[in-house]
Amino acid sequence: MTLTESAPAPADEVVLEAVGLTKHFPVRRRLRDLLSRTPAVVHAVDDVSIALRRGRVTALVGESGSGKSTVARLLAQLYPRTAGDIRLHGRSTRVRGGHRFRAYVRRVQLILQDPFASLNPVHTVRYHLTRSLRIHGNAGTGPDGLEKALAGLLTRVALTPPERYLDAFPHELSGGQRQRVAIARALGADPEVLLADEPVSMLDVSIRLGVLNLLQDLKDRLDLAILYITHDIASARYFADETIVMYAGRMVEGGDSETVTQRPAHPYTRLLIESAPDPERITGAGGDGAAAGERGHGEPPSLIRPPAGCRFHPRCPAAMPRCATDLPPPMPVDDAPGHWAACWLYDADTVATEKPANAEKPAKAEKPANTEHAEQAGTEAGR
Ligand SMILES: Nc1ncnc2c1ncn2[C@@H]1O[C@H](COP(=O)(O)OP(=O)(O)O)[C@@H](O)[C@H]1O
Ligand SMILES: [Mg+2]
Repeated sequence: MTLTESAPAPADEVVLEAVGLTKHFPVRRRLRDLLSRTPAVVHAVDDVSIALRRGRVTALVGESGSGKSTVARLLAQLYPRTAGDIRLHGRSTRVRGGHRFRAYVRRVQLILQDPFASLNPVHTVRYHLTRSLRIHGNAGTGPDGLEKALAGLLTRVALTPPERYLDAFPHELSGGQRQRVAIARALGADPEVLLADEPVSMLDVSIRLGVLNLLQDLKDRLDLAILYITHDIASARYFADETIVMYAGRMVEGGDSETVTQRPAHPYTRLLIESAPDPERITGAGGDGAAAGERGHGEPPSLIRPPAGCRFHPRCPAAMPRCATDLPPPMPVDDAPGHWAACWLYDADTVATEKPANAEKPAKAEKPANTEHAEQAGTEAGR
């Protein structure tokens, strides 16, 4: 069962799709590895399937190291994949450099976490945007056409009047303005898909909401399919139509954002939400990964030798014997269409035979974390 089966309307056409996407990174060989037959690898991403739809935001949520950026880079075709497929408009694509890569990048643009690192400090805004427009054939005709296109890009990301920003260098802009320039540069390709890898987590708390609202506005006006990667599940509720939760390289839960964040089914998602600040305090919540989301519930496992069965089972308060041996497939949660969890708690037969006394299925929404938590996150977030 996958989410993509829930019949989409034409407006929700799938633009970009990952099917069983897998990435294993080889690790440096040690003497021990030379003796063993199987070389050691980091299981960064295993069997991830995501459908990005026109005019929709899909959030990919998980703590640091869960494989989110690797998924984004695979979807951007920056890495060769170990297994699985990437389909653009239903067509399998595998591109490595050359003109096919440029044609792909024209449709699928990646926005990174750190706008300062992604913009060249010795070049102006005009240079960055002109280059993008030219490479992708959107620079118009003649100098007037280019000026119009440049002004159009800056206006679209609300950097107005454009003349004020065109000749600025990255260091002359605020973090939020730099991220807007990075978004404008991506729009220079006139893409169909934006892959936004933690686009606001490096930004000052007070300007995060503005940048998320900008992305939402672009989604609506340009009908973009957006992958929104975040460690902050509270912002997924606010910003994304659909939410997928990853743990240690695997997808553990998915569904519409409201359901996943208000009625989390997988024990890992429940822990993530319990340790997140109040969802209503979105502007203060983005930094919670370091402050709260990644604290207080054990350590993520080694991805070189990930746990057998469910990768979460060593940390899971509801683990049953089977969880240590058998990988749970995605199973319907039966509380909302398309809501699924890769957890044996949602398999009636398993629960009937193995359920320990403390393995309660979540009956209702988790309450938001207490304000003490949120205050801590607020003070730790603005770095
Ligand atoms: N180029 C690489 N070589 C080896 N291991 C990598 C590489 N990139 C990422 N990893 C590993 O893959 C795992 C997932 O990383 P990443 O996708 O960056 O996670 P996230 O973005 O969720 O923090 C981590 O254990 C990380 O150390
Ligand atoms: Mg990352």
